Amino acid sequence: MTHKVEDAAAALKAGGLILLPTETVYGLGADASNAEAVAAIFEAKGRPRFNPLISHVSDAGAAEAIAVFDPAARALAEAFWPGPLTIVAPVRDRDRVCDLARAGLDSVAVRVPGHAGARAVIAAFGGAVVAPSANRSGRPSPTTFADAVEETGFAVQAAVDGGDCAVGVESTVVSVLGDGVALLRPGAVTRAEIEALVGPVNERADEGHRSPGRLTTHYAPDAPVRIEADGAHEGEILLGFGAGVGDPRWSLSPTGDLREAAANLFRMLREADRERPVGIAVSPVPLVGLGEAINDRLRRAAGFVG
Ligand code: TXA
Ligand code: MG
Repeated sequence: MTHKVEDAAAALKAGGLILLPTETVYGLGADASNAEAVAAIFEAKGRPRFNPLISHVSDAGAAEAIAVFDPAARALAEAFWPGPLTIVAPVRDRDRVCDLARAGLDSVAVRVPGHAGARAVIAAFGGAVVAPSANRSGRPSPTTFADAVEETGFAVQAAVDGGDCAVGVESTVVSVLGDGVALLRPGAVTRAEIEALVGPVNERADEGHRSPGRLTTHYAPDAPVRIEADGAHEGEILLGFGAGVGDPRWSLSPTGDLREAAANLFRMLREADRERPVGIAVSPVPLVGLGEAINDRLRRAAGFVG
């Protein structure tokens, strides 16, 4: 199942769902202004309705038609778009992004993706495309076309094959709600990169800055995941990190490269799961740079919430 960009745009206009390739992970896309189409996303994913969606748009101008940006939001957009940063800001136009997509909040999440396929679909459609990761709720995000089809292909009218996702972990989510910048979800753009631009960021500082989707266990394969492992127990597959750790076939990065590990993470969790091991053990990954996002996803896959 693979379709052209025009088929995907037509499916969006007709209120259907699509598989949308992005540089981070595959998305399950719909017209952000169409409440029925958005409802179909929540249904296909089995996603709780209190968890709002990201609106994907073509450029910063289109983002500012939906959301109200202060100078910090503008600086972030300028520095990191197109790319894997999502900005949560006060909503400006409640019709372009329907209530259900925002989970009834007064804020809206916007992102300008860098992937050529995503950009072509958004341009051909001409509006905002809401797209959560294309996994069923709680499962690892799909980073290959085949994995996306396996997860939610049953629900879509069109699916665009954009190849393997180069980044492999989701966008960084920040909120800019008039009282500074808060980091809601570590992701592909690192904390250091953001702080170099806007100074120290708050940590989910208060109620308004909370990211509802962060409250549930997430990214989990069927096999139990054990993190910070210094080796495999009987029957486990060890996902190694660094030279000489475990079976090279199952290494997130034999050279200890965080970019490579991020790109491999969800695909390898899925591949390991298919072997039906007793469990999946994962070597320690340093908590620097992209390692913050990798460790965040691993902790949640292992069932540690928070
Ligand atoms: O890389 C990505 O961001 C991918 C690709 C497809 O773009 N999308 C993605 O979407 O990861 P999703 O739905 O799996 O994650 C969206 C996150 C959730 O944690 C959600 O709670 C948060 O963004 N979010 C969305 N709108 C929000 C809002 N108004 N306030 C706070 N958090 C919000
Ligand atoms: Mg997700």
